Amino acid sequence: MHNLILQAIRDGETLVYGHRGAKAYAPMNTLPAFQLAAEQGAHGIELDVHRSKDGYPVIVHDFEVDETTNGTGHVTEMTLAELKALDAGSWFGPEFTGVRVPTLDEVFEEVGGRLFINVEIKSESVETDGVEEVVAECIRRHNMAARVLVSSFNPHTLRRFRAIMPEAPIGYLVAPAYLEELGVLDDLAYEAYHPYHEMINAEMVVAHAALGRHINAWTVNDPQRGVALRDMGVRGIITDAPDTMLAALRA
Ligand code: G3P
Ligand code: MG
Repeated sequence: MHNLILQAIRDGETLVYGHRGAKAYAPMNTLPAFQLAAEQGAHGIELDVHRSKDGYPVIVHDFEVDETTNGTGHVTEMTLAELKALDAGSWFGPEFTGVRVPTLDEVFEEVGGRLFINVEIKSESVETDGVEEVVAECIRRHNMAARVLVSSFNPHTLRRFRAIMPEAPIGYLVAPAYLEELGVLDDLAYEAYHPYHEMINAEMVVAHAALGRHINAWTVNDPQRGVALRDMGVRGIITDAPDTMLAALRA
């Protein structure tokens, strides 16, 4: 697998990813938030993707648009045109009025050349609406397989994505509370393990390293915690504030 994220890990780097962009300073999951993460020196960004009703990979955190736009409704039941009509910035601050919901294509075009992209696929069902296919096609279209890491809380999603696109690394997201009906990912080799940061300890890092995996922690906003995780061997820190995390890791 030729992937520059895995190469950086092998070279001993600890990567800092802007969570939903530089979420502390700009509206989450928008181009300004991603560009700001790049300007702050982040190695990468994490973002959340769904399939729009008409088959486009669109970047929104929640399953509904209500919290982060001036609209209402389920992301997967809206067309790209309907999503593009929304204001995804003014809820955060008036200076972001008119900022739009981006597609994954737009993110790759804007920052794909200078940032690693952790694409989190949002899905809470056993069945699929085809989101994995849409994400894989987009990665191929932009020749980004070497610069992405695709993660999900949903084992079914990760199995499907791996079958469609075996050349891209996958990360298994885990949280203290999870959807039991989705089961666990215990039948597939994966490259990265993504626990909520408070779940991580040194023994976990060693155990996963023995299985050939690195650990990426989310969401770490205390710089001292980031340093402690790095010293444990965690190789990716997903943070809302890349600037302060980078400063602490470099100190
Ligand atoms: O991918 C890390 C983190 O983003 C997972 O949780 O809810 O922020 O997407 P959430
Ligand atoms: Mg996420």
